[in-house]
Amino acid sequence: MAIVRFVLCLMVEILVLPVTILQYVGIWDSLYKRVFPHLMCRMTTTINDKMGKVKKELFDKLPEFASSSGLTILEVGCGSGANFQFYPWDCKVICTDPNPNFQRLLESSGAKNEHVKLEKFLVASGEDLSPVASASVDAVVCTLVLCTAENVDAVLKEILRVLKPGGAFFFIEHVAADKMTWLHFIQHVIQPAWRYFGDGCYLTRDTRASLEKANFSQLNVKNIVAPLTSLIKYQIVGYAVK
Ligand SMILES: C[S@@+](CC[C@H](N)C(=O)[O-])C[C@H]1O[C@@H](n2cnc3c(N)ncnc32)[C@H](O)[C@@H]1O
Repeated sequence: MAIVRFVLCLMVEILVLPVTILQYVGIWDSLYKRVFPHLMCRMTTTINDKMGKVKKELFDKLPEFASSSGLTILEVGCGSGANFQFYPWDCKVICTDPNPNFQRLLESSGAKNEHVKLEKFLVASGEDLSPVASASVDAVVCTLVLCTAENVDAVLKEILRVLKPGGAFFFIEHVAADKMTWLHFIQHVIQPAWRYFGDGCYLTRDTRASLEKANFSQLNVKNIVAPLTSLIKYQIVGYAVK
C-alpha cells in the first residue's frame, strides 16, 4: 500500500508541476495570496452556517477568561474575521495574519460586528508574534490555522508567551483522518496539490499531538466530525489553559 501511495503522490506532483514552477519563481504565491482572501471569505459563509453551533458553544466560554480590565482576544491567522459574530459583547480583538490582503475584508467584518472592538491588525505569522507583548492577552483564538502554519510547535510556544497566566487558547482545527482509513490514504495522495490550492494547508497533521506536548496546564479537547467536505471533516475543538 505504501508503494501505491508513493506512486499516486508522484502522479499528483507531476500534474501540479506547472504550479510548482510558478511557485518556485515566486509568481504563484504573489497571485494566490491576493485571490485566497476572497475565496476564503466566500467559504466562511458556508462554514459559519454549518459550524455555527460548534463555534457558539466554544466561544460562549470566552468571558470566563476575562480579567479585571475586560476581555482581550488575540486572533492568530484571523483571515476575514469569520469568528467576530461569535465573540462576546465589548471584547477587544487584536488580529494577526501573515497575509496583508485580508485587511480590507477584516475591517469590513469589524464594521458589521459593532459588539466587537477591533483594536488593530498586525501582519505577523503565528511563529513570530513579537509585536504582541508577553502575558498581555486573556485569550488566543485559532480556527483552521494550525493546518497551515509552517511550524505548529513554534506557534503554540508564541501563544503561551502572549497569554496571561490563567488565559486560554481556543481552537477549531481540522486534522488527519484515522490511519487505517481510505480517507487518510486520499488525504496523503492529494496533499501535493492541496497545499497550493489550500494556501499551504496540510490535510495530514496530527495537531492534537502537538497540543498535548505543548506546555499548557490544562487541555480540553474533543474530536468532532464536522458537517463539511470529507477532506476536512475530522476536527478538534477545545481550549487549553496556560
Ligand atoms: C483557512 S484560513 C482561516 C482563516 C480564519 N481563521 C477562518 O477561520 O476563517 C487560514 C489562515 O491562516 C493564515 N496563516 C497562514 N500561515 C500562517 C501562519 N504561519 N501563522 C498564522 N496564520 C497563518 C492564512 O493567511 C489564513 O488567513
